[in-house]
Amino acid sequence: MVETIQWTDAGVVMIDQTRLPLIEEFVTCRTYGQVAEAITTMVIRGAPAIGVAAAMGVALGVLHASAATLDSEFETICSTLAATRPTAVNLFWAIDRMQRLYASLRGRPIGAIRDALVREARQIYLEDIAINRAIGANGAALVPDHKTVLTHCNAGALATAGYGTALGVIRAAVAAGKHIDVFADETRPFLQGARLTVWELQQDGIPVTLITDNMAGHFLHGGRIGCVVVGADRIARNGDVANKIGTYAVAVLAHENGVPFYVAAPVSTLDLTLSSGDRIPIEQRPSREVTELFGTAVAPPGTSVQNPAFDVTPARYVTAIITEKGVARPPYATSLPALLAPAKDSK
Ligand code: MRU
Repeated sequence: MVETIQWTDAGVVMIDQTRLPLIEEFVTCRTYGQVAEAITTMVIRGAPAIGVAAAMGVALGVLHASAATLDSEFETICSTLAATRPTAVNLFWAIDRMQRLYASLRGRPIGAIRDALVREARQIYLEDIAINRAIGANGAALVPDHKTVLTHCNAGALATAGYGTALGVIRAAVAAGKHIDVFADETRPFLQGARLTVWELQQDGIPVTLITDNMAGHFLHGGRIGCVVVGADRIARNGDVANKIGTYAVAVLAHENGVPFYVAAPVSTLDLTLSSGDRIPIEQRPSREVTELFGTAVAPPGTSVQNPAFDVTPARYVTAIITEKGVARPPYATSLPALLAPAKDSK
């Protein structure tokens, strides 16, 4: 499995997702500022992966901070990392987890604080892989046999510490012996589907066909697609789902054609503080991502551009939300909080 991100003695090593699939190059971030830059420029992307990167960024920052100014440096480190991308709540979840640990270590020697934060970041990484495998195990049964699964963007190993959420469900279905293939939306404008999902599935030998985003309706209508599985960047309490721009259109088309639309995500993607998806902040990305393709202009100079990186799919189009703690179904205002409730004692 591809190593998306690793903690090493030299720093935080990431595969550069802006250069895939043609160039497999790893970058080493030696400072928290470089980690923040890697998240902003999407060297690393995908909600769980940027959560892991932020946690490692915090740990890296504290390794280089001085004991005398640790509290103020810690605050700057966290706020710099939190300012990178606004939509995926996993980023804030991971920073918050590091902040809570830091607060609990108050008064301890700096060496002990550093060790504990590095350990926590590595733990978040390991947990993410285990969580994705559990999401896969919970979702595999929902994937119809002898059908095609449509996915949008990249919610695979590259978008996580490993294995993936949506692609984790697909991997688990294949491992369970299902005969499925995948249609990957190319995912304009950043082409995560074409560049990353196709590459990742090819590495695993899972049959994958690339389609442009505007072909999804055609194939959803044709009867070949058994289900849609996508990831998520933030899920509100009512089950509205923020995910890569274009997801909403796919969900409406799936609904129109009676195709189940599944969202696969860890519970760290739930934001139960938000009553609906209207309140999810949507990142606006640079206009050149739309006006250029690999540095070549595809629109006249001065073209006015909108480039929201995410959209919100209303809960009514979401058949189920697959998490590591189980599968939530409508009404989500009840089923999502229930996933987070402490397990009842069986005695
Ligand atoms: O802009 P990106 O590439 O970070 O967007 C990624 C997505 O929208 C993914 O579908 C989502 O983060 C889930 S990743 C498991």
